[in-house]
Amino acid sequence: MKDIYLGTNWKMHKTISETKSYLHDLKNYLKDINFDNIKVFVIPPYTALDITKTILKDSRILYGAQNMHWMDEGEYTGEISPPLLKDFEIDLIELGHSERRRYYNENDIELNKKVKAALKYNFIPLICVGERKEEKKYGVSQEFIKLQIKTILNGVKLNDIEKELNDILWIAYEPVWAIGEKGKPATPEYIEEIHSVIRQTLKKLYNDEISNKIPILYGGSVNQENALSILNQNNVDGLFIGRAAWKANSFSNIIHQVYETFINKNSQKANQ
Ligand code: 13P
Repeated sequence: MKDIYLGTNWKMHKTISETKSYLHDLKNYLKDINFDNIKVFVIPPYTALDITKTILKDSRILYGAQNMHWMDEGEYTGEISPPLLKDFEIDLIELGHSERRRYYNENDIELNKKVKAALKYNFIPLICVGERKEEKKYGVSQEFIKLQIKTILNGVKLNDIEKELNDILWIAYEPVWAIGEKGKPATPEYIEEIHSVIRQTLKKLYNDEISNKIPILYGGSVNQENALSILNQNNVDGLFIGRAAWKANSFSNIIHQVYETFINKNSQKANQ
């Protein structure tokens, strides 16, 4: 059975004390979860990474940062490099979120350098792609996403990395028009269509095995009502959640829902 990935991007939210209470609560709520087939992750702001590292030290909940420069060091005021993040022992690094593209003009060529830097430092890059409402309106969403993936992964060799393939690199499909307060979630059918385009693109770039093992997550107005129907799609391996997971109990509710529906059910069957 394939692993399921459930994570939350906190964006510019949560102080150190808010992080403390969220993570203590979350750990408590998830005490009954067996993490063998479910990967839960949180992506706090940089300022909360130290406390996150301390609280999650003895836990299987993964964590990462929201952005990273590709250089090791240099005159780049306000930026954070891979060695600086290594201190916090992060598992993953979110790259290319649409808010970074929109407000800070991040582009796929820079993201390509960031992915290579992440792999060099053994961080799992969580690469975000997705069309804006304009591409959707013009009917070029699929071409747009293919272009993003091919550019971001240009020259990224995955074949010779000695690691579990599903721990090398993750992709999040996040249509820009679906994200945030004003966003509307994409339908499960639409998500499946785009996820299979991403899968095919990975197949062409690498091979069947790699393409099947790279988890493809969906993000954009995921909540307790739509989580299961989205995750029920063939090519959806996980969910990347914003607002609906910013309270530990609502994130935990989604995790439990998913766990009971897709994981516990399977393990009960396997034991029969
Ligand atoms: P929302 O779930 O709040 O739409 O945000 C999704 C997101 O941006 C995850 O990275």
